[in-house]
Amino acid sequence: MLEILILAAGKGTRMRSDLPKVLHKLAGKPLLGHVVDTAHALGAAQTCVVYGFGGEAVPQALADDKLTFVLQAEQHGTGHAVKQALPQLSDDSVTLVLYGDVPLTRTASLRPLVATAQAGALGLLTVNLAYPDGYGRIVREDGKVTRIVEHKDATPTERAIQEVNTGILAVATRHLKRWIDELKNDNAQGEYYLTDIIALAVRDDVSVETHQPACDWEVLGVNSKAQLAELERIHQNEVAQGLLDAGVTLMDPARIDVRGTLTCGRDVVIDINCVFEGLVELADGVQVGANCVLRNVKVAAATRIDAFTLIDDALIGEANRLGPFSRIRPGTTLARDVHVGNFVEIKNSQIDDGSKINHLSYVGDTTMGKKVNIGAGTITCNYDGANKHRTVIEDEVFVGSDTQLVAPITVGKGATLGAGTTLTRDAPAGELTLSRAKQLTLSGWKRPVKQKKEA
Ligand code: UD1
Ligand code: CA
Repeated sequence: MLEILILAAGKGTRMRSDLPKVLHKLAGKPLLGHVVDTAHALGAAQTCVVYGFGGEAVPQALADDKLTFVLQAEQHGTGHAVKQALPQLSDDSVTLVLYGDVPLTRTASLRPLVATAQAGALGLLTVNLAYPDGYGRIVREDGKVTRIVEHKDATPTERAIQEVNTGILAVATRHLKRWIDELKNDNAQGEYYLTDIIALAVRDDVSVETHQPACDWEVLGVNSKAQLAELERIHQNEVAQGLLDAGVTLMDPARIDVRGTLTCGRDVVIDINCVFEGLVELADGVQVGANCVLRNVKVAAATRIDAFTLIDDALIGEANRLGPFSRIRPGTTLARDVHVGNFVEIKNSQIDDGSKINHLSYVGDTTMGKKVNIGAGTITCNYDGANKHRTVIEDEVFVGSDTQLVAPITVGKGATLGAGTTLTRDAPAGELTLSRAKQLTLSGWKRPVKQKKEA
């Protein structure tokens, strides 16, 4: 049985923020959220988060009934942090220690550590760094790991060692419980070092086996905004490479941001600077222009979304044409062959096949039939200051430009509304309805002229 401990009590002073470090977001998700996902993906029987700085903000942000939270009120080192959680762990499990501020470790790099621990040894994840400053160094004798020495406690010779401790390790929980009680804090930082268990393992003839991650960035931690930005780029690059591998055309893989999950069909093309949030699905042949933001959207095949279009919580049908500069808000469903043009906002509306809203309009709380044509500057007045009301526009209606539809209201099938109409009562099917003062000309009328002020 595997149990996972995530250490997340640290303050993260260098973030210069009131938010606990592990709640800062990478790809739209808290750092700790990434580590929790990794723990779940490894099939942990229990995942225990040790939190401290920021108080209840951490458990509140990550609330999940599969997680156990343990408070480390004062931070006296990584060994002390582990000790707080040990009563939660069962004696016959294997414990894997992860860090809430190390978000990008892949499960493939952790599984060998777990297997090592299950086989009775201690698995330690290490990397070789050209500049190992600050890290704990892996001390070996005759090739075998004998202990870890922290940078601040290391001699010049030890500081020359380039193999460093990532902090990530796995071992049988019953060993861990025994060794943690033996830790002392007589070191340069006056802390209880988890790393001191390595020497205790060696003493007790538990062999220490090191493993390396596939990529060094998998074990990078976040201590500053600069490091957070660096890891964000690494992560986005990984996502972009995955999309390219899946056959997606990215006009520039360095200029796409996926903050969630983006699933693409065949022959999808994505121009630069697009942001995808939450769950986004783009079916075969979808094209997304530059600078679009799509959040929780499903787009059906062969739809083209032009530049600067924002879509939030909506279902977009097949062969639509959206944008440039369209805004589709939550609760909207567009059927087939719908056209939405520039400066058009649609909210909580269902638009049926072949309807077109091409210019400068607001359509809210509306049910629109097939082949409707909405003229430029049309507004559904859905809000009376207190309540929202629906507008129903039946099939094949033609709405002239600059029309206001004061909801609740229904425009019957095939009706035509004259330009400039303010519709306050239902318009009958098949007829022309308009509300317009008769045009008249006052011949001989003169514009007022500015009067000279008396001196
Ligand atoms: C630790 C390791 C070091 C390793 C390095 C890798 C120890 C003693 N040293 O050093 O060998 O090279 O990580 O980055 O383990 N934490 C708590 N409670 C505490 C102290 C720390 O939850 O009381 C958490 C922090 O939030 C952080 C992690 O443990 O996520 C590591 O703590 P930190 O103080 O940064 O360890 P390092 O000194 O970097
Ligand atoms: Ca420290």
